[in-house]
Amino acid sequence: MNILIVDDTKFNLEYAKNILIENKINCHILLANSGKKALNLLAAQTIDIVILDIVMPEIDGLEVLKEIRKDEKHHNIPVIMFTSLTDKQALKKSFEYGATDFINKPIEPIEFISRVKSAISIRNYALYLNETLDTIKEQNQELLSLNKKLQETQFYLVQKEKLVAIGQLAAGVAHEINNPIGYVSSNTETLSKYIHKIKTAIDQYRKLLDCLSDTDIQSKEVQNHMKELYSLKKKLHLDFIMTDIDSLIDDSFKGLEKITKIVQSLRNFARHDLENDFNYYDFNDLVEETLLLIKNEAKYIIDIEKDLKDLPLTSCNRTQIGQVLLNIMVNAVQAIKSQSREEQGLITISTFSNENYVVCEIIDDGPGIPKDIIDKIFNPFFTTKEVGSGTGLGLSISYDIIVNKHSGELLVSSEVDQGTTFTIKLPIKKMSS
Ligand SMILES: Nc1ncnc2c1ncn2[C@@H]1O[C@H](COP(=O)(O)OP(=O)(O)OP(=O)(O)O)[C@@H](O)[C@H]1O
Ligand SMILES: [Mg+2]
Repeated sequence: MNILIVDDTKFNLEYAKNILIENKINCHILLANSGKKALNLLAAQTIDIVILDIVMPEIDGLEVLKEIRKDEKHHNIPVIMFTSLTDKQALKKSFEYGATDFINKPIEPIEFISRVKSAISIRNYALYLNETLDTIKEQNQELLSLNKKLQETQFYLVQKEKLVAIGQLAAGVAHEINNPIGYVSSNTETLSKYIHKIKTAIDQYRKLLDCLSDTDIQSKEVQNHMKELYSLKKKLHLDFIMTDIDSLIDDSFKGLEKITKIVQSLRNFARHDLENDFNYYDFNDLVEETLLLIKNEAKYIIDIEKDLKDLPLTSCNRTQIGQVLLNIMVNAVQAIKSQSREEQGLITISTFSNENYVVCEIIDDGPGIPKDIIDKIFNPFFTTKEVGSGTGLGLSISYDIIVNKHSGELLVSSEVDQGTTFTIKLPIKKMSS
C-alpha cells in the first residue's frame, strides 16, 4: 500500500511518517513538500491513500484534490485532509471536492493512526470491489461469447439435422422417381417418333383426300367415306391437333428434362459416394470452369468481372465446390435478369487468401434480398421463384457442402436495390510434404 503525505512543513511530514512507522503500518510512505510534487508522484505511480495539507504555497491542497478527482483512475483513492480547527471554510470546500476524511493539526497520534487505518480499509475494500468488478466483467464477456457460440452451434445443428432429414427424404424420393422417369422418357421418345410417322402418313392421306375431292368419283361408297373423313377431320379438330401435337411433345420433353434435373440435384444432395473424393485444387481453376458454364446465360445482359489473386492449393471436393459456385452464380444471374432492367448487370467474382482461408466473393448488383427472408434462403425448398422455375435447393445444398462437408463458411450480405454478396470461406489444408 502506497501512502502519500503532502505538507509544505518538513516537521509535519516527518512526524506523520514516524507515527506510521511506530505503529507498524504495513505500507510504503512517500513524502511531498508541495502540491506540484504531489501531482507528479500521483502521475508517476500508483498511490493508495493521500494525506493532504490544505494550506500550501502555489498549488494548495484544494487544487491538488480537484486534480486528483479529475482523473478517473484516482476516483477511489481516499484523500484525508490535514486541517486546523480554525479552517472550517476550507474543510467544507474539501468535502465538496471529494475529500474522504480530515485530520486535525497539530497532529494527534491516536487520531492520526485511527483515521489512516480506516482509510486503509476503505482502500482495500475499493480495490477488492474493483477486482470483483473486473472479474464480473470478464465473466460477463465470456458468457456473452459463449452464448453467441451456443446460438451458432444451435443454428448449425438445426441446419445439419434438417439437411440430414431432407437428404434421406431426397434420396428416397429420387430413387422412386428415377425409375419411372427412365421409362417415361424413353417411351416419350418412342412415342414422338411414332407420332412423327403417323403425322407423315396422315399428311399423305389428307393430300390424297384433297386430290380425290378434285376428281369425279363415281363410287357412292368412296364418296361416303370421303364425306365421313371430312366430317371427322372437322369433328376431331384434326388441323389443330396436327399443329399442337409438336408443341405438346416439346413441352413434355422440357418437363421431363426439368424433372430429371431436379432428381439429379436431389441425388447429388443425398450422395455419399463422392463425399470423400477430396483432392488438392487451385480454387481459381474451379471458378474459371464454372464461369465457362455460366457465361452463355449472362451474355449481352450481364458483365462478369474477375479479380482472382494467386491462391495456395487447397483440399476440396471438385464436383461439390463446382456445384456451389454454379448455384450461387446462377442465382446472381437469375436475380439480375428478374429486374428486366435497361442497363447491364454486373457480377464480380474475387478470390484471395489469408493465413487460414481461401476466400471467394460473388457480388451481384441485382435486387438484393429483403431482410425478412434472408434468414430463410439456406432452408431446403425455400424459393421466391415462380412455381416450376426454382426448387429452392441450390443454397441449402451449397450450405451443406461448404459448412458440413468442407468445414468452411458460407456467408451472405445483401442490401435491397443494391445487390448481394455471397462469401465462401474454405479452410486451407496444406499438403503434407
Ligand atoms: N443473388 C441473389 N439475389 C437475390 N436473391 C437471391 C440471390 N441468391 C439467392 N436468392 C434468394 O434465395 C432463394 C433461394 O435460393 P436457392 O438457390 O436455394 O433456390 P432457387 O434459386 O430459388 O432454386 P434452385 O436453385 O433450386 O433452382 C432464391 O429463391 C432467392 O429468393
Ligand atoms: Mg438457385
